[in-house]
Amino acid sequence: MDMIPLHKLFGAEIAGGVDLTVPLTDTQVADLRSLFDAHGVTVIRHETPLTDEQHIAFSRRFGPLQRMKMLNMFDKSGPRLRYPELVDVGNLDSDGRILPDNDRRRQFNQGNLLWHADVSFDAVRATYSMLSAHVVPPGGADTEYCDLRAAYDALPANMQKSIDGLVAEHSIWHSRALGGLTEVSEAEKATRPPAQHALVHLHPGCGRKSLYLASHASHIVGWPVDEGRALLDELIGFATQQRFVYRHHWRVGDLVIWDNQSTMHRGTPFDDTAHARDMRRTTVLEAA
Ligand code: OGA
Ligand code: MN
Repeated sequence: MDMIPLHKLFGAEIAGGVDLTVPLTDTQVADLRSLFDAHGVTVIRHETPLTDEQHIAFSRRFGPLQRMKMLNMFDKSGPRLRYPELVDVGNLDSDGRILPDNDRRRQFNQGNLLWHADVSFDAVRATYSMLSAHVVPPGGADTEYCDLRAAYDALPANMQKSIDGLVAEHSIWHSRALGGLTEVSEAEKATRPPAQHALVHLHPGCGRKSLYLASHASHIVGWPVDEGRALLDELIGFATQQRFVYRHHWRVGDLVIWDNQSTMHRGTPFDDTAHARDMRRTTVLEAA
């Protein structure tokens, strides 16, 4: 496979040589997994987007898929996408209309503008997210990625030493509150209890140490909340410096695969009350 680097530190585009519309062999799956692990962000461009069925079938080859389980986030018409394996990251309702200004789904997705790793708020973490671009608004509504392995490597040795062994607690409600979604019922909260994860881990696929960070992280276990939050803010600030960031400019048909255990990402704002954006994501979970 021909690889085109996207950034000095991480990220690559596969330029031809892989057809995701047909079933892959085990060897192809293993080769792709190594690429995903090595590069952190992998881009595969298509003339037209994969169908939902192709997208899901491809994703499944890499592990169990997250199924949507958020309660009460949708209006009576139900979710727009037919498959619970597809997370709707766009701004359309089930009739294909742009969501109104005050729609809770819009507020919910605002949290995606904060640096995060997908699903870090669950006990079973995500490995890869696979985001497919169906409709791209004018300007592209880029997504930014940062490399948490390179960031870890670049930390001063005393900082590396002091954070080894620390555990952070992550909750979706923490990042949603930061994103402005404050009115959440107890029943909704109960669908997503918090989870705890090591702040530094050895990535099994690439053999490198990486930070594991997200705006979902609310505090450090066993520390006073404000001290833990200050450390998390400092680390997120460090890891998202320009030198660690790749910005993806979307084209319709792009499939971007990122490793949630070695990168963070965030959406960037666009005029989302005027322009449609249709993006669909599958999320592969690490085996429980
Ligand atoms: C996601 C996400 C940001 C974006 O799909 O997980 O955070 O730019 N997306 O759509
Ligand atoms: Mn995300």
